[in-house]
Amino acid sequence: MGPQATSKITSEMTLSDRADALEEHMMHELDTIVTKSVFANLTDGEVAMEGGAALQKKHPGKFFNMGADPRLPPMPDKPTLLDYFKNRFASTNHLLQSGALAIKNGHSEKVVLACLLHDIAVVGFIRCDHGYWGAQMIAPYVDEEVSEAIRMHQALRFFPDEAMGYPYPELYRQYFGDDYKPEPYIVEEYKRARDSKYYETSRLICVNDVYAFDPNAKVDLDQFEDIIGRNFRQPKEGLGWDHSPSAHMWRTIMWPTRFL
Ligand SMILES: [Fe+2]
Ligand SMILES: [Fe+2]
Repeated sequence: MGPQATSKITSEMTLSDRADALEEHMMHELDTIVTKSVFANLTDGEVAMEGGAALQKKHPGKFFNMGADPRLPPMPDKPTLLDYFKNRFASTNHLLQSGALAIKNGHSEKVVLACLLHDIAVVGFIRCDHGYWGAQMIAPYVDEEVSEAIRMHQALRFFPDEAMGYPYPELYRQYFGDDYKPEPYIVEEYKRARDSKYYETSRLICVNDVYAFDPNAKVDLDQFEDIIGRNFRQPKEGLGWDHSPSAHMWRTIMWPTRFL
């Protein structure tokens, strides 16, 4: 919320002020006070947060949201990975296409799962360092081969391996320009990945990745249910309610606006 935002929308307001005012108006319709975390503001280019007291003053008689965000699709009491696919991941086409291509190419179930989950951080959480975030999210529930391969694809995708059928992606030239050079931490990670016993799996994520951007292809999530069932240890309490080292990450995606 910008400092100039008011709840009254007028024609002299800038587009962004109008959006802020509309957002504030919508907040008033809710039964609880839903707040933006600092990180959401950082991604809007602002280092800012609103204090609790000031916020409550704007919404007299209401308490802060301490659970599900009423604006988001509801999640079942014991959510599964598929529930996150359906209700929290903003776009799954790329992941489904990568997984389907891995099946078509005859790869193992672990490789298929790695391809299916390689960008869950991008579609459900954050772009920056998505390979690391995604790997941590799933590490307690999958074979090390799957999570390590996802972690390393962060670096590998910037380096060609023609022998394995992976040239430097033309798309990256288009996205980042001809001059883009991976940062030193990525180069270091790449060197470590080359020596990893999971190098090949990680490289296969890259191989099945770049070709998986067909906006018209339709792949059904259901076809992966068995592979997920056999290779992803779904916690009986529900993903996010278990006590694994990454359960809080899933809970945060489920309840992103819990006040504390
Ligand atoms: Fe990726
Ligand atoms: Fe990808």
